[in-house]
Amino acid sequence: MPATPDMPWQELPEMKPFLPGGRLVDAKGEQREVHSASTSNNLTVLQHWFQKLQPVRTLEIGLAFGASATLLLALHRRVGHTGVCHHAVDPFQRTDWNGCALRHIGTQGLADLFAHHEALSCFALPKLHETGERFGFIYIDGSHLFEDVMIDFYFSNLLLEIGGVIAFDDSACGHVKKVIAFIRSNWSASYSELSPYEVTAPRWPRLKQTVARWTNRQQLTLFQKVEAPKRDWNTEFGDF
Ligand SMILES: C[S@@+](CC[C@H](N)C(=O)[O-])C[C@H]1O[C@@H](n2cnc3c(N)ncnc32)[C@H](O)[C@@H]1O
Repeated sequence: MPATPDMPWQELPEMKPFLPGGRLVDAKGEQREVHSASTSNNLTVLQHWFQKLQPVRTLEIGLAFGASATLLLALHRRVGHTGVCHHAVDPFQRTDWNGCALRHIGTQGLADLFAHHEALSCFALPKLHETGERFGFIYIDGSHLFEDVMIDFYFSNLLLEIGGVIAFDDSACGHVKKVIAFIRSNWSASYSELSPYEVTAPRWPRLKQTVARWTNRQQLTLFQKVEAPKRDWNTEFGDF
C-alpha cells in the first residue's frame, strides 16, 4: 500500500532512520547513530500542522541529521508539491553532521524539493528575505541561545505569510522561553498561540494543558500569524 501523508510519520519509509536506534550513512559511507533529532511528539505536531495548512513552502532553522526536514519533504512530495518546497538553514551540516542529512535526502529522491543554506541563520534569513521567498510554516530549531532565537524569530516574522505557523522547539529551555515570553507580552495581537496538545495529548483536560504551558514545561510552542505586527516607535512595551 503506498504511504499517504496522513499515515503516522513513523510509518513513512523515508523516516525509518529516525525511529529509535536508527542510523544514517554519512558522506564518506560510514554509519552514524542518529541523535539530537526532533522528538517523536514534535514530529507528530509538525505533521498535523502540515496536513492542516498544506503550506506550499516551508522553512527550518537547524538541519542536523534531517529528521524534521525529511518529514516535511516526504509530506510535500505526498501532497504533490513541486519545485523547491523546503529550505533548511544550517552552517554545520558538513562539519558537525558529516553530511548525513544531505545524503539521506538525496537517497530518498527528495533533493529536487530541497534547498540547504550553509550559513548561520542571522546571515541566511535576511538573504532569503531579499529573494522574495515566503513561507507558510517555519520551524525554529537551530542555535538555542536567546540572541540567536530572537534573530530567528525577527526574520521569520518577515518571511512568514499571514495565516502561517511558526514553531519553536525546546521552548522549555530558558533562552527560548524568553523569546516566547516576549511574543506573548508584546506581539499577541499578531501572533495567536496554538496548542500542541490538540494532537499529542487530546484527552488531557484543558486545565492540565494550560498548567503545562504556563509552567513552561512545553517542548514545542506554536503561533499562527494573524496579521502583520504594527510597531510604532512609541508602542507600549510589555515587560516579560
Ligand atoms: C537540534 S538540532 C536540529 C534537529 C533537526 N531539526 C531534526 O529534527 O533533526 C540543531 C541544529 O541547529 C544547527 N545550528 C546551530 N546554530 C545555528 C545557527 N546559528 N544557524 C543555523 N543553524 C544552527 C546545528 O548545527 C544543529 O544541526
